[in-house]
Amino acid sequence: MDVVVLVSGRGSNLRAICSAIDAGSCSANVVGVISDRGKAAALEFAEARGIPTRTVSLHKGDDRDAWNRSLADEVASLKPDLVVLAGFMRVLGAPLLDRFPGQIINVHPALLPSFPGHNGPQDALDGGVRISGCTVHIVDAGVDTGPILAQAAVPVLANDTAETLHARIQIQEHQILPRVIHQIAIGAITLDPLTVSTSVADPARSLSVPDV
Ligand code: GRF
Repeated sequence: MDVVVLVSGRGSNLRAICSAIDAGSCSANVVGVISDRGKAAALEFAEARGIPTRTVSLHKGDDRDAWNRSLADEVASLKPDLVVLAGFMRVLGAPLLDRFPGQIINVHPALLPSFPGHNGPQDALDGGVRISGCTVHIVDAGVDTGPILAQAAVPVLANDTAETLHARIQIQEHQILPRVIHQIAIGAITLDPLTVSTSVADPARSLSVPDV
């Protein structure tokens, strides 16, 4: 299964995907990495690994529709079976969603549907929850609203900051994102391109709750 990964920043999830591929636990091939920021560390990692990279920048005042079309063209040129948002900090528009219906997944640092948006860990702290975590879901037109494929929980500790909580959440992201990609590759998770609905063969295996 050929995968294009969209990134904006550090790329620790991209690294986790590549590590799982190297270890033989993720049956996928990363055929390209696309960023909206030219200086993303994730791009450096991809380039060092020999993965084709592209940058489709969006600056203040740019035409967002044109950016959405360029992004869709770049992704489509790599002919992926699956598009993975791994720290891509933009909301996708219709051009990409329409070209890859139900074939785009995202990892989010909170237990959706709670705490969508850019500040998942801080919002969880502000909400006073004792358990947070991460979610892998199919991308639809909303912000972190698509069907949920997998979640993992982490405890929220008394002295947590957004940074320490996020770091604990990321350890789980690095487990469940490559696992979901593998499950899609082997057909254990079916993405329905027409309805953007999903069927998870064994939901229990997609829910990981570590000891607290
Ligand atoms: C992750 O926490 C992901 O959930 C969120 O952005 C962060 C990206 O981290 N969407 P990285 O760039 O993969 O390290």
